[in-house]
Amino acid sequence: MKSRIFAWLLALILLSACALALPGESGRVPLGGEPEKGKGPAAGKEMKEYRIITATDLHYISPVLTDQGEYFTNLVTYADGKAMPCIEEIAEAFTDRVISEAPDLVILSGDLTFNGAVKSHTDMAAKLSRIEKAGIPVLVIPGNHDIGRSSAAMFRGKNFTRVPSPDAVLFRRIYRDFGPDEAASRDPVSGSYTWRAGEDLLILMLDTNSGAENALPEASFAWLEQVLSEARERKERVIAVSHQNLYIHNKAYFRGVVIDNAPGAAALYEKYGVLLNLSGHMHMQHLEEDYGVPDMATSSLAVYPHHYGLITVSKEGLVYETRDLSVSAWARERGSEDPRLLDFENWSRTFFEKTMERQAAARAAGAEGFTKAEKKRMAEAMVRVTSAYFRGEPLDMDTVREAMDLWNRVPGGGYGAYVESIRRDLEKDHRHLEIRTGRD
Ligand SMILES: [Fe+2]
Repeated sequence: MKSRIFAWLLALILLSACALALPGESGRVPLGGEPEKGKGPAAGKEMKEYRIITATDLHYISPVLTDQGEYFTNLVTYADGKAMPCIEEIAEAFTDRVISEAPDLVILSGDLTFNGAVKSHTDMAAKLSRIEKAGIPVLVIPGNHDIGRSSAAMFRGKNFTRVPSPDAVLFRRIYRDFGPDEAASRDPVSGSYTWRAGEDLLILMLDTNSGAENALPEASFAWLEQVLSEARERKERVIAVSHQNLYIHNKAYFRGVVIDNAPGAAALYEKYGVLLNLSGHMHMQHLEEDYGVPDMATSSLAVYPHHYGLITVSKEGLVYETRDLSVSAWARERGSEDPRLLDFENWSRTFFEKTMERQAAARAAGAEGFTKAEKKRMAEAMVRVTSAYFRGEPLDMDTVREAMDLWNRVPGGGYGAYVESIRRDLEKDHRHLEIRTGRD
């Protein structure tokens, strides 16, 4: 029962890909061809303090591919709360925000696009070019929505038509300026690579979506160990990046969420002292630090409160903290008169919570022996708990205790059992992490 409740919650977010999949979805196209020769280390700047912006799961769709008509609107309204009606503005606001923050590096950890359309990728790459023209390097890896998607489509009115999705080779060509062509080392099997950020900081971009599905190809492990071993010899600190998670964040729901052969990668990360893994995919802000390497999953940039991570690396260690992308501030600066954009945070929060509310109301309606008012309180509490859980924020359980007591009266524990199982998560703030390396 408990796992069924988990399945409801996370399936809502994670399996939206399935819900959104169009008929005939066929999965990935394997990576082919030999890797191009890397250009070697990027600028080996001396590290004093290094600032990195990381974001994930933007799920961008080119405006050319949607008229925001009936089919598309239904698709995104009854999905997982991504603010797709404003995705162009979110992408533009993020691009401008990055340029004004002027970090030393930007990392995007996959699910760059909504449904993997080539046109969405090329438009996305144009935005990333704008960032690089401002002198800020960008690194990307694909997520499970980016390559070989037969669900890639253009939406018009009540209909859709399929459009091309890149294979791994084309993906790499589109994003060649954003990592692959500037790599310090490239895995000859998957699209994984390393990138030298500073004199003692190496970024390891692990691609678990183009050489194998939800996994690092077994043949890539030799390369992985080699780059980690060389990094240790050079006394480089390593930040690893993956789309799917390195460790289990939710014990009742992890298949397809965690990299299938993650234990092998995690063992190497632990052996060679990788500092941190950055991941995404769940659309949930969640820090898992019970294992050898902290795995910080940043929530989706497309979902309220539109987190991105700001990482500061210094000789003393590393600090990760989230920032909320303010689309309304961006809209005001641009002189927009669109009321939805000017009040974007309210609009986006409501859009996300409505998704939760529909599910919660349906569950409460199915519970027997409760008054209408009690069912309303039960549904409201579910929305509060789920929203806090996905934002990675602690929740004062006293504020939902009465409703949880009602849920606990539902045979089998109902939603109360689920809340009980994530109680520890709800006590913690998952938006912040500090690692001290003790170097000087
Ligand atoms: Fe994903």
